[in-house]
Amino acid sequence: MKFSIKSENPEKQRSACVVVGVFEPRKLTDAALAMDKISNGYIGGILHSGDMEGKTGSALVLHNVPNTLCERILLVGLGKEGEFGDKGYRDAVRTAFKTLHETGAADAALFLTGIPTEKRDNAWKISQTVIVAMESIYRFDRLKSKVEENKPRLREVNLGIMNSGNQAELAANEVAMQQGLAIAEGMNLAKDLGNLAPNICTPTYLAEQAAGLAKTYKLKVTILEEKDMENLGMGSLLAVARGSRQPAKLVVLEYWGRAKKDKPVVLVGKGITFDTGGISLKPAAEMDEMKYDMCGAASVLGTITAIARMRLPINLVGIIPTTENMPGGNATKPGDVVTSMSGQTIEILNTDAEGRLILCDALTYAERYDPETVIDIATLTGACVIALGHVATGLLSNDEELAEELMHASSQAADRAWRLPLWDDYQEQLKSNFADIANIGGRAAGTITAACFLSRFTKKYRWAHLDIAGTAWKSGKEKGATGRPVPLLTQFLVGRTMKKTL
Ligand code: BES
Ligand code: MN
Ligand code: ZN
Repeated sequence: MKFSIKSENPEKQRSACVVVGVFEPRKLTDAALAMDKISNGYIGGILHSGDMEGKTGSALVLHNVPNTLCERILLVGLGKEGEFGDKGYRDAVRTAFKTLHETGAADAALFLTGIPTEKRDNAWKISQTVIVAMESIYRFDRLKSKVEENKPRLREVNLGIMNSGNQAELAANEVAMQQGLAIAEGMNLAKDLGNLAPNICTPTYLAEQAAGLAKTYKLKVTILEEKDMENLGMGSLLAVARGSRQPAKLVVLEYWGRAKKDKPVVLVGKGITFDTGGISLKPAAEMDEMKYDMCGAASVLGTITAIARMRLPINLVGIIPTTENMPGGNATKPGDVVTSMSGQTIEILNTDAEGRLILCDALTYAERYDPETVIDIATLTGACVIALGHVATGLLSNDEELAEELMHASSQAADRAWRLPLWDDYQEQLKSNFADIANIGGRAAGTITAACFLSRFTKKYRWAHLDIAGTAWKSGKEKGATGRPVPLLTQFLVGRTMKKTL
């Protein structure tokens, strides 16, 4: 799909479909009014006859409206004007594209960007439109023998702005569009990797993908093998890999967009390409979804893709510890004690709490980059799904300012996160009678104790942890990876290259 920004009025569009919004009850937006005027009240008449109330999620396609230059007009319901905000805007754009794909229109001119919302400018609405539009055409059909025929016809999308501002605003809008495209591309990569079958998306496959990205975007890639991990003393990561026939890898991608002396942000992504639970075997129901246990890793690759595409002036390192978690004759057993790269010993009481075991060694490894900030991203705990559902990513941090910065980026990117406490009081739950620390802290506050475990390995830098167990993929009929939290992470990094607005 191709996007462009047009500063024109809707009634001038020779488009296959002009898209305008209608508030509830039956209140035309400026763009809708312009179409109404040129058609001598045709649109108002339609509303009057009761065909469109303007409710959220509703849409109405009109053909050959008198006096217009376009083939169709699509009316999109926006809900109540007073309640129209981020979610309302995104929902309206989603409805618009869903309906557009049901028509034969090959191009469209959207006049939703100009609708005022409380706190967002045109640039925000442009990047969100691009992201939602790209989401609407995402398909994962590469593992099907026959590809569906009814692919969307829509090729070209014009984002219409009626009162385009000055030169600076025009430039900002253009940047926003590029940013939206970069985020969408990063999300698509993260989705593809997540959706791939776990017999295809193995640790070796992830390493190859990283090497491919390195080639495309001229990044530095390093792939550590199990032998290298042994030499580094990564006894914790290797303990998880023991049960698998697939060799574990530690993948490092480096993007240097500034002078090397500028400390990098390091992203660490959990890359369990399949989590059976190991000897602490998971129940069978929905176990297939544990192929998504590498979505943290996928979000790191997606974010690096977005950043590299934009050539953002920032230094960024991605570290991906990746392995399967399998049972087997050689697998780690509950009760085993291992020594992590940090020197701390760990009693593995439950082999299903494996994410923290691979992350802790990767977090110690991150020290060698003398990082400005480290953020790890992981489908870490089922408890996070219970706490925050599928709406918000769990955020925990040892640094107030960093947590706020991430919350701000989260809001800006419309990619929700919510902070949970990391108070020392919870550390007690990780006491072990036989080692320095246990790898589980009981049922209570499972997301927090998991982060507490990680915090033992992140004392040397500013650190935040994102638990994406509830947000990385959808279950049920619409099963599929979401590409989250690529928008949040990319926005966070973009924010760092601009003047801090906190
Ligand atoms: N990958 C899972 C977490 C998970 C479970 C994410 C379900 C999304 C949906 C993780 O490795 C795990 O198994 N965690 C255990 C930890 C427990 C043993 C302390 C969990 O959450 O049950
Ligand atoms: Mn597990
Ligand atoms: Zn896991």
